[in-house]
Amino acid sequence: MEKFNVCIVGGGSTYTLGFLKSFVRLKEEFPIKKLVLFDIDGDRQRPIGEYGKILFKERFPELDFSYTTDPAEAYPEMDFIFMQMRAGGLPMRRKDEHIPLSMGKIGQETVGAGGMAYGLRSCVDMIEAVHQIREYSPNAWILNYSNPAAIVAEALRREFPDDQRILNICDQPENIIRSVSRLLNVDWNSLDPVYFGLNHYGWFTHIYDKKTGEDLLPLIRKTVHEKGFLPQDAEQRDKSWLDTYGFVQTMMEDFPDYIPNTYDGYYLYPEYKCSHLNPEYTRADEVIDGREKRVFAEAAEVIKEGKVGDRFHAISDAHAEMMIKVAEAIAFNTNQRFIVIVKNDGAIANLQNDAMVEVVAELGINGPRPMRVGTIPQFYYGLLAQQVSCEKLIVDAYYEHSYQKALEAFTLNRLINDAKKARELLDALVEANKGQWPELK
Ligand code: NAD
Ligand code: G6P
Ligand code: MN
Repeated sequence: MEKFNVCIVGGGSTYTLGFLKSFVRLKEEFPIKKLVLFDIDGDRQRPIGEYGKILFKERFPELDFSYTTDPAEAYPEMDFIFMQMRAGGLPMRRKDEHIPLSMGKIGQETVGAGGMAYGLRSCVDMIEAVHQIREYSPNAWILNYSNPAAIVAEALRREFPDDQRILNICDQPENIIRSVSRLLNVDWNSLDPVYFGLNHYGWFTHIYDKKTGEDLLPLIRKTVHEKGFLPQDAEQRDKSWLDTYGFVQTMMEDFPDYIPNTYDGYYLYPEYKCSHLNPEYTRADEVIDGREKRVFAEAAEVIKEGKVGDRFHAISDAHAEMMIKVAEAIAFNTNQRFIVIVKNDGAIANLQNDAMVEVVAELGINGPRPMRVGTIPQFYYGLLAQQVSCEKLIVDAYYEHSYQKALEAFTLNRLINDAKKARELLDALVEANKGQWPELK
């Protein structure tokens, strides 16, 4: 069987340990011969890389594993590149969340003012990184989930219009399907969804039982009404995520047609959401005090003891497993279905063709074959058309170094929606992002 060379960009990420373990777990399904971690921050990546050496010596000794900060070592002869960088790191995520919240607007990783600020940083870093990758591995599949994936996908579409081997994908739709499966007490693989939207802004219009063909949406609606909604891995989640999933119940009471993505809450209830977020302690703080500490503590322990041992079983990582399954689908042309981000081209009939949309696709050796959802109702069209414009204007601002375009994006965003407020937020974020954004004029 063919074996593949894989690189992870953002090797020092809090998600990497989950990937290392999952590459071991899935080595029969997706066999790899070489794995390289790449990061621009060597100090952050080192403990993760050392952990990898110990893990693979125990469980996958034939794997050629290394970690580096040199693109010339990382990128040549790659088949798959997993991109999970965080432009500006978690300290900048804190600012994306704290600054808008301190000014009375939602600060969040990927939506609203914070998401647009992160988007501009990611345009800079992602475009540069993909150019570097293409110097060394022109044919590698680039699987991107670096956020904000909506804006990154639009930027990469414009910068690399003829590149057919860049795929942007997010795990949240699959997380929601898994959560539905917990609610109904069925295997999540038995569910066949229909979905439309933008990244972090979409809806399930149907969830079919693969065997019987029954649309389970009415049952899901009734069960959510009676029991609420929890993430599949609720026991491993911080409280803020339980609240985010729980809010699906409210959304489905008000808008019962479809099952929403959890992120829709920010767009549909900006005032309520804003009043329930703490500007002194946001999700970024929770991640810094939680997942980041846990991951680096586990790495430190393993390095000290020189063995991974039972810690191998500690984390079950749905995100890493999904991404490796994506690579497997492409590598072996399985045509398995995933919800991915693609150029619209008629998938949503009444949305512009050059929007980057999130829909179900069959995934094989030639990439995604998206499934059409037809014409979406006026309400959803209105919401999405506004947000497509907003995401496109941020990418315009990046290319044109245009303060005006950024101001238009901020004004149009449903989480801001006011030109004076937009200007105040933008000015504060320009200041916070000096050296990391293009200079806006
Ligand atoms: P993190 O800060 O722990 O890790 C990011 C790593 O990227 C850091 O080690 C950092 O040094 C590195 N990095 C930053 N800029 C870089 C660059 N230009 N080139 C190479 N490496 C660079 O963050 P995290 O919480 O682990 O998240 C990592 C990324 O994955 C984020 O963008 C996050 O939003 C994304 N993510 C996306 C999904 C999804 O479904 N779309 C799911 C999980 C994580
Ligand atoms: C989901 C989303 C990702 C996002 C992550 C944030 O997985 O799909 O795009 O980055 O949640 O999680 P965090 O725990 O860092 O807040
Ligand atoms: Mn996501």
